[in-house]
Amino acid sequence: MHDTLKDQLDREGYVVLEDFLRPAECDELMAAGLELTKNLPDSEERAIFSTTQPEKQQLKDSYFLASNDKISYFFEEEAFDKDGKLKVDPSISLNKVGHALHLLHPIIRCYTYSDRVKSVCHQLGFKEPAVVQSMYIYKNPGVGGEVVAHQDASYLYTEPIPPVGFWIALEDTTVQNGCLWMARGSHKSGVHRRLIRSPENNQTLIYDKPAAVYPQSSFTAVPVSKGTCILIHGNVVHKSAHNRSDRSRHAYTFHVIEKQENTYSKDNWLQEGPNAPFLNLFTTPQIE
Ligand code: FE2
Repeated sequence: MHDTLKDQLDREGYVVLEDFLRPAECDELMAAGLELTKNLPDSEERAIFSTTQPEKQQLKDSYFLASNDKISYFFEEEAFDKDGKLKVDPSISLNKVGHALHLLHPIIRCYTYSDRVKSVCHQLGFKEPAVVQSMYIYKNPGVGGEVVAHQDASYLYTEPIPPVGFWIALEDTTVQNGCLWMARGSHKSGVHRRLIRSPENNQTLIYDKPAAVYPQSSFTAVPVSKGTCILIHGNVVHKSAHNRSDRSRHAYTFHVIEKQENTYSKDNWLQEGPNAPFLNLFTTPQIE
């Protein structure tokens, strides 16, 4: 029987597409990512991004919420000393940049609205896909932080059709430099918790439930070579470890939602706006 990409994603919760980008294409994206580190905001504007310190989240909410239509910078917590000064070279100080690179960055836009991405979305059965957010992730050697186990649908909730993440390795990923770990089949148990805008204050983000505990034995390391794209079902549990190696692990990732016969939650942190339209991927050109 013919096993489609959609069959594989529905069965496993993720699909590994090797050679999605050629090495030279990865190099072009990496050069763009490194270029972004040359124009960092001053210390006033710096928002340390960490998924392991929830008590700091409150302070970061406004910066985070405003990043839906911008190229915003999120630093590694370990990049700072106790006085809040950078203790590493600025080029390796970032955790990520997001969340509107797909709209605002000409090179990244080309790779997002590409025929290859459109073809995958056709194969996944999308009728009207839209890219809603994009992130350049650095996971730098030494400082690159852990991403705790989560489901992407906790952050981007759509019903009944969950989002799909495209996660493209721009360098070889290994257990040592913080490759993805996937809990195969975990997408079949619904969405375990959600990050939502607080009903009391629309500008504050809260989780509706405590974090679930996932045993390490449910995860499989998925090291991949440069240029590989991992398709991530919105409900599959996944994580990545701290990068304690001496090699960076840059990746470009974005999320696609179905717009037809599907509801995008008004509680999601990320909302469509005049400068962040949810454009139909099939009809959006690579260059405007
Ligand atoms: Fe994720």
